[in-house]
Amino acid sequence: MAGIRIERVTKRFGAVAAVRDLSLEIHDHEFVTLLGPSGCGKTTLLRMIAGFAAPDEGAIRVDGVVLSTPASVIPPERRGMGMVFQNYAVWPHKTVFQNVAFGLEVRRVGRTETRSRVTRVLELVNLAGLEGRFPGQLSGGQQQQVALARSLVVEPGILLLDEPLSNLDAKLRERMRWELKELQRRTGITFVYVTHDQSEAMALSDRIAVMHQGEIMQLGAPRVVYTRPANRTVADFMGLVNLIPANVIRAAGDESLVSVGGTHPVPVALPASAAAGQAVHVAIRPESLRLIPSASTPDVQGTVPAKVAEVMFLGNIVDCHVTLDDGTRVCVQADPGVVLEVGQPVGVHFDSRSSSVFAT
Ligand SMILES: Nc1ncnc2c1ncn2[C@@H]1O[C@H](COP(=O)(O)OP(=O)(O)OP(=O)(O)O)[C@@H](O)[C@H]1O
Ligand SMILES: [Mg+2]
Repeated sequence: MAGIRIERVTKRFGAVAAVRDLSLEIHDHEFVTLLGPSGCGKTTLLRMIAGFAAPDEGAIRVDGVVLSTPASVIPPERRGMGMVFQNYAVWPHKTVFQNVAFGLEVRRVGRTETRSRVTRVLELVNLAGLEGRFPGQLSGGQQQQVALARSLVVEPGILLLDEPLSNLDAKLRERMRWELKELQRRTGITFVYVTHDQSEAMALSDRIAVMHQGEIMQLGAPRVVYTRPANRTVADFMGLVNLIPANVIRAAGDESLVSVGGTHPVPVALPASAAAGQAVHVAIRPESLRLIPSASTPDVQGTVPAKVAEVMFLGNIVDCHVTLDDGTRVCVQADPGVVLEVGQPVGVHFDSRSSSVFAT
């Protein structure tokens, strides 16, 4: 059992609060990712969970036991957690084998078992054959894998990983995602994972905590955070490129309408606070818009006339930028089989189920 409870934790550096009044409960066996831009407080929070830094306010408990308060911090080595640091922190004077085996030696695991566990984990992270090298003889990505192997080999109850795949090439990173996911399923380790890569967060996590300036903006399953961002900041960070200015025509539950591109009515789900006449933004992903490549746009509600501004062929899809009547530029994904000319009149159909509306 290894659930983590973070209760109203604040950490300041001078005048800056790197983490502000933050609460988060991570369940036993859960994979939670802290996702957010550089400087939002991810590493600071992880270091407090690990016991390397004390909170200025609040408390951190594991399975109900208080581990950190401003007055007292149980040291890292007595927390039963493994951590991979953002800058790896492997021991330069130890070989790859010695780096990885160290945690097992401390735990007095026998020599034969140590050898087989170290060998297994080095194979897992693609370092078989490099046991005798020193970190100075490895690439950055390989050093990162040593750090990962060192934390995995002891199979702790809780693993704290700070951007553990950031220095790997795309192919190895993809493989490691699958390995981490399978490892978690097999061992039931509770993972707290830090990244600023939204696709990595979505691929791995049970829940994602989107952080911004020391606070959690949204906590939820990847699908929820992706399709229903809580506010503009989250929408923007989750790669939601279209934030389209609109005006509320009618605020009436399922029958709500906004005008887009000037005067064209589009059905949407509105926040409860919205009122007719209010200026808002409709957030919608390019793949949730449908391009109707026809000069005479069908006069259906939710279809807005536009002109093709730019087309980019990407192989499996085509990204198309169109301009609405009021000059708003919108990105739409189109079928690569459709030929589109710049300047061509088209229609853009909005799917009301996949848009979110935020107050301006
Ligand atoms: N030891 C420190 N002294 C002073 N300021 C610090 C210290 N550590 C972190 N900060 C500041 O606290 C804020 C949060 O830093 P943190 O390292 O937690 O960010 P992060 O989300 O991990 O960013 P990145 O994605 O770049 O690693 C930043 O503004 C940073 O400059
Ligand atoms: Mg960091």
